[in-house]
Amino acid sequence: MCSLFRKKDIEECLHLDTCNQKLKRSLGPIGLIIMGIGAIVGAGIFIVTGVASVTSGPALILSFVIAGMACGLTALCYAEMASMITVTGGIYTYTHVTMGEIWAWMIGWTGILQYIIAASAVAIGWSSYTSGFFTSIGFALPEIITSSPLTGSGLINLPALLIVALLTGVLVLGAKESAKVNAAIVIVKLAVIGLFIVIGAQFINPINYHPFAPNGLSGVLQGAAMVFFAYVGFDTVASAAEETKNPQKALPIGIIGSLAVCSILYIIVTAVMTGMVPYTMFEGSAAPVQIALQSVGINGATTIVTVGAIAGLTTVILVSMFVVPRLLFAMSRDELLPEGLTKVHHNFKSPITSIIIVGIVSALISSFLPLEGIFELVNISALTAFIFLALSVIILRKQRPDIERKFKCPLVPVVPILSIIACLGLITQLKLLTIEVFGIWLLAGLTFYFTYRRYKKYAANKNNDLIEHESYSAVDEISAKRIW
Ligand code: ALA
Repeated sequence: MCSLFRKKDIEECLHLDTCNQKLKRSLGPIGLIIMGIGAIVGAGIFIVTGVASVTSGPALILSFVIAGMACGLTALCYAEMASMITVTGGIYTYTHVTMGEIWAWMIGWTGILQYIIAASAVAIGWSSYTSGFFTSIGFALPEIITSSPLTGSGLINLPALLIVALLTGVLVLGAKESAKVNAAIVIVKLAVIGLFIVIGAQFINPINYHPFAPNGLSGVLQGAAMVFFAYVGFDTVASAAEETKNPQKALPIGIIGSLAVCSILYIIVTAVMTGMVPYTMFEGSAAPVQIALQSVGINGATTIVTVGAIAGLTTVILVSMFVVPRLLFAMSRDELLPEGLTKVHHNFKSPITSIIIVGIVSALISSFLPLEGIFELVNISALTAFIFLALSVIILRKQRPDIERKFKCPLVPVVPILSIIACLGLITQLKLLTIEVFGIWLLAGLTFYFTYRRYKKYAANKNNDLIEHESYSAVDEISAKRIW
């Protein structure tokens, strides 16, 4: 029973440099900010804003401010932990150090769900935008190869499969190469967003801001719980801890910097978008930015936005798929998953086995399943992890005030407690179905955990028996020789 709550030795984490499974340190603070932006800006702004604006109305801007503030509190907690525990695994590792194995397992398990679902769902969105692009240039792809067999006339979502396969290949090349690809694409998506702001701002009509909050405060809060998805991703920065140079300083800059840049961008984009057209025009739309541009008669809007969206979605898939193998790597190194997952490629120094597994699972999900409406599942997983993160900050401040923190979260425990309240508040705004599915996933996780523990115990006992048996046989042989 005690071993369920066995904590990971923090000294072991602080001195992990001695471990021979080291990944290659190649990223700096700017690389981390760009990586964060790559993970953050994507389907949230290009797709989810359409759904959320129907709930919030023009007050969507407030929804973004509220979700951004909740993430800001979390980022401060994250920065403190990341400046201290510079090993991969993020909140999973922090929970292992402060609360023990079983809690860490559950956080690792929810993290796997969060990022695999995020990568797969965004790959499906990527496929829709890409198919739309081909249609707009007069080369429509047949539906049989662009949608899931569960949606009617589809057989396989081939574009989703291809993008996941391609990005898996990029990830195998290692963090530095993945960061280069990410940086190039981030520039494209930022340019498109910048262009939208500059063009769209000229078409703002203040009348469109009335009524500002048609569904009152509850609409604004529900909208905040939805657009929280747009911010998910700043936490991925910490997963590159073992591939970062001077991580104690670079990680806090990467986490807080990327969140700050994206929050400002989101608030401006939302203000422009809802000012351009009446919010009711976004009803049922998966491409709100595109609709806003088209309705004010900007020719070529479709192509520009499609390119930006495809770029945005690509980096979200890339970075989401970057995180899961690091998580599996960390969990496997702690013997909570099979040892094979810690295998590092001899040349590229990337966690090769984990990357391939994540690539296959994401490819299968995105090729064959329709994942509409599952964005909230990503949100609930992230919000749960953020609660554990804030708890970890409070616990570690009490238990180990002596450890050097290159970044200190201000006003502890007030900031972490506010972060917990904000996350719980946002969870209560999610759909009941989301909470139920998440509960089932947690139960599945517990079942896996206990089954694997039993198996490990059984394997260890069998091994001991074998050793004993071998030593008995050796003794018998010696005795037989003596007798003879
Ligand atoms: N924040 C990411 C996105 O918006 C998950 O696509």
